[in-house]
Amino acid sequence: MSSPASPAQTICLTKAAQVVRPPEDGLPFLRHDRAAELRFDPVPVTIAGGTIAAFAETDAELRIDASGCAVVPGFVDCHTHLPFAGWRAGEYELKVSGASYEEIARAGGGIAASAAALAEAGDAQVLGQAKSLADEMLAWGTTAFECKSGYGLSAEGELRALRLADELDRLVSQTTVSTALLAHAVPPGYSADAWMDEVESLLPRVADETDATALDIYVESIAFSNQHLARLGELAADAGLALRCHVEQFTGNRSVPVALEHGARSVDHLACLHPDDLEPLAASECAAVLLPGAEFMAAERTAPARELANAGAICALATDANPGTSPLVSLPLVIGLAVRRYGWTAGEAVLAATHNAAWVIGLHERLGSLEIGKSADLLLLDAPIEHLPYRLGHNPVLAAFRAGELLYVRADTAARFDV
Ligand code: NIG
Ligand code: FE
Repeated sequence: MSSPASPAQTICLTKAAQVVRPPEDGLPFLRHDRAAELRFDPVPVTIAGGTIAAFAETDAELRIDASGCAVVPGFVDCHTHLPFAGWRAGEYELKVSGASYEEIARAGGGIAASAAALAEAGDAQVLGQAKSLADEMLAWGTTAFECKSGYGLSAEGELRALRLADELDRLVSQTTVSTALLAHAVPPGYSADAWMDEVESLLPRVADETDATALDIYVESIAFSNQHLARLGELAADAGLALRCHVEQFTGNRSVPVALEHGARSVDHLACLHPDDLEPLAASECAAVLLPGAEFMAAERTAPARELANAGAICALATDANPGTSPLVSLPLVIGLAVRRYGWTAGEAVLAATHNAAWVIGLHERLGSLEIGKSADLLLLDAPIEHLPYRLGHNPVLAAFRAGELLYVRADTAARFDV
């Protein structure tokens, strides 16, 4: 990096081919039936004091020639399972030769295997793996991400996972939030009902001892039911935490009406969404978090994302980074999969991985879109955004800023930076 930018510096990005902005300022999210209103006009971008100061050229200390590039908000990964321990590559081989997620889980693999790995690993080992994944995510343009617990599978294990997530926040360059996925798999020795009693008694400690801002649950035959989702919804409301849920992933369970009734912030996966639940979801302020990387890697069905977008849902995209269903950390790859599988435009996919993803994790007032006064979390991409899905697997990120600080710059890019 020839000219490191500090947050106090004024920076001007000039001559970009595209600057992706919402149609108006102050929107908490942009429903997908309005995605065509995104603005792409190639305005200069001035950053001062860590925030976006103007869409005009100014006498900046650092000027960056963005010729041919797109300037987009930093990617927001609103659904990951970091921090976790180890991987499960052996299961992937079983899966591609026909074993189902449920069969693998019932044979002691799946979430239980990652829970055992987490229990065995020391804190430094878990944080080391997560930090190196966060660095990889930064190089793919992720400037904010969500962490989840869920591999603790005991009261103390879940609290430890949430404390590790808090620790990770201090170690990484990105902004993070954490979600208590307290109902992920039924721990050994418990019925699902008995574990929900344990979850209820754990909540005061989650609130006191961790920075978790949301609760999460996995609804599936091998995990929890809609009744448990409803119960977690009540607990979340009482605790002042957002409700999120893994629903309709491998089988249809009609969980979405239950989630909407309990004011969920997001419903995630939706590969098996019931057609009758699509319009009510689209009309709500509950985001549809779509995970095409998990759909692809776990051979799931394809979520009705085109229909959700047409109906005006708040669609978001995320990696679902985890050692089981989606060992992926690249949002450009997820954007490419979304465009191919869902029939979305590049603009729709970028919207889903930025502005609407920030809504999901409750950081929409601070970041997620290029607006004056928002945190200068932005990326310089090596081509217009249509290249993102088209050059699937290519990393287009030339530079990544968070709060005006240049955190990452691709090796071939230094020549564009000129003090
Ligand atoms: O989002 N399905 C539930 N949870 C994760 C997978 C967790 C795992 O397999 O380790 C998911 O796909
Ligand atoms: Fe997940």
